[in-house]
Amino acid sequence: MRKFASRYGRLGTETAFAVGADAAAWAAKDNHVYPFHLGDMNIITPDYILDAANKAARDGKTGYAPGPGILPLREALAEDIGMARGLNYTAENISVQPGGKPVIGKFLATLMEEGAEALYPNPGYPIYESQIEYLGGKALPYGYVTTDTGFAINREEVEAQITDKTTILIYNNYQNPIGAESTEEEMQWVADLAIKHDLWVLADEAYFEVRYSGLSKSIASLPGMAERTVILYTFSKKFAMTGWRLGCAAGPVDVIEAISKFNTNQESCSNHFVQAAGVACLNGPTEPQNAILSELKLRRDALTEALLNIDGVKVSRPETTFYLFPDVTDIFKRMGYTDSAKFRLDALYETGISFCSREHFGRPLPGEDRIFIRFAYSGINVDQIQEGLAALKNFWE
Ligand SMILES: Cc1ncc(COP(=O)(O)O)c(C=O)c1O
Repeated sequence: MRKFASRYGRLGTETAFAVGADAAAWAAKDNHVYPFHLGDMNIITPDYILDAANKAARDGKTGYAPGPGILPLREALAEDIGMARGLNYTAENISVQPGGKPVIGKFLATLMEEGAEALYPNPGYPIYESQIEYLGGKALPYGYVTTDTGFAINREEVEAQITDKTTILIYNNYQNPIGAESTEEEMQWVADLAIKHDLWVLADEAYFEVRYSGLSKSIASLPGMAERTVILYTFSKKFAMTGWRLGCAAGPVDVIEAISKFNTNQESCSNHFVQAAGVACLNGPTEPQNAILSELKLRRDALTEALLNIDGVKVSRPETTFYLFPDVTDIFKRMGYTDSAKFRLDALYETGISFCSREHFGRPLPGEDRIFIRFAYSGINVDQIQEGLAALKNFWE
């Protein structure tokens, strides 16, 4: 085996892509697959955005752009992000990125010393753990507890781990994979903790606009937080643009300048005509975005109803994100399973349903004794949800 650099050995990945490979292999053998595994979307980007990108490319926006992003986009983002959060951002608070994901590594590379400790949600988006460890930090996972309405941060687990080396807190409110949403009280608790321990906060707000009722709120809006928070923002989900790769980091000017220096080092700039389309997104009509949300809401309702109709499934119905995180412990035990990979693959081979399990979102924490799986409903239509879940009910009952 060729020997790679030792830091490479610390790099993790999104193991959910392996679930996609299992599903693709099964489909290649002429089987029907119901794709609930990936947070990708089968909704096409609204026409006015496609037209804007096309026009920008034809107008010659095909060369390099400034490293931090084109000014009209930075201005539009400052207004969009600032207005929704009650923050006075200007273009200087914005560093345009090829997607939301790059913000994670660039934030950590800017602010986390090697050997420092970083708290991150687990189950959570797997790239946090990967980037913390790759960049030489110590990853401190915190979990969630089940409540009557969904999930809440396990506060004891957070507090018990903080030492004088802890400098970073990653907070993903509206949460992938579990769909959790903080109460105002919980968000304030997180903010108080960050202030008390002088932590930098990465507020991953990838799902801020994916909301079916109520209002989203940012931790950066709370007193004392804007100066210690970097927001991860993305066009991926709100405009059905996962493959376009457009997002940004929003935060204090000095941190944003540092993050933009990584842009110059790593990709030079985000795609020029895609940035121009980004301006059109933010200045465009709201109906297409509402249509995306209405479609997602129908899917959420269909999936929740179908899951609750299966004996042994416990699931809450989040008002944000496009994920459900059912507790299937009773079924797992009733059917005599001991291995969640086999549980997942049997469901695929017997019914065509492809989902991720808890292990795809970080190493399980001590004391976890329930079996959770994740359904993403962003890539599958209502009729397929109903058809697939009927087969699953048949198999699991
Ligand atoms: C919690 C979370 N953060 C960040 C991202 C990255 O988004 P993007 O596709 O814009 O890079 C995702 C994508 O699934 C996500 O779920």
